[in-house]
Amino acid sequence: MNLRLDTTTEPIQSAAYTIRRGTPADAADLASFAARTFTDTYGDYNSPANLAMHLTSTYNVAQQTRELSDAGVATLLAHQYTDLVAYAQVRNGPPPPCVGGAEPVELLRFYVDKSRHGDGLAQRLFEEARRAAVALGGVTLWLKVWERNPRAIAFYRKCGLVDVGVAEFFVGTDRQTDRVLAMNLRDSRAPS
Ligand SMILES: CC(C)(COP(=O)(O)OP(=O)(O)OC[C@H]1O[C@@H](n2cnc3c(N)ncnc32)[C@H](O)[C@@H]1OP(=O)(O)O)[C@@H](O)C(=O)NCCC(=O)NCCS
Repeated sequence: MNLRLDTTTEPIQSAAYTIRRGTPADAADLASFAARTFTDTYGDYNSPANLAMHLTSTYNVAQQTRELSDAGVATLLAHQYTDLVAYAQVRNGPPPPCVGGAEPVELLRFYVDKSRHGDGLAQRLFEEARRAAVALGGVTLWLKVWERNPRAIAFYRKCGLVDVGVAEFFVGTDRQTDRVLAMNLRDSRAPS
């Protein structure tokens, strides 16, 4: 079976999960899932006001519709039957100065429902995100991850990303420090 998912919307069925490109029709589902998984991950570490500000500005349906319509953003959705269980977004965009590699593409968001952590879905989704980054012309994949998110940092290291510096990230009015990780897509291999 061919497991490639580059720029097509053809779904990939693997075990119980289907991974496919998102379309604007997915905006409401994605906005709701993205807000829930952000809250699951970071809700305990942010004030309700800052969290609400971030959710409202980032995960509203109009914003997700814009991102799903943007040719420079690839959104990958993983479903189990009809349930959205994970998503990833990669995009063209300017990296922070600490990312020195050629043709940088950002892994902007990568979230797996907490009930599926540790079951291998994240590895499969990462591999599809990596392919999507190559399809966007990327040679260097980079991302920002909160410095106090050790599980995500451990996962990305397993995938071959290395720490290259820091960048700031705002949740509402709270300025936080993210680690910046990067990898050369031409050197990479599938995560184990
Ligand atoms: C980040 C995420 C995608 C990783 O997927 P996952 O299925 O949990 O990943 P895995 O279980 O394969 O790998 C996580 C690793 O971190 C390790 N880990 C777990 N808790 C840890 C901790 N507190 N400190 C250090 N390592 C930790 C696990 O043991 C595992 O390593 P191992 O395979 O060597 O045992 C998933 O946890 C997730 O969606 N988290 C919430 C959203 C998020 O943080 N997204 C990243 C935003 S930048």
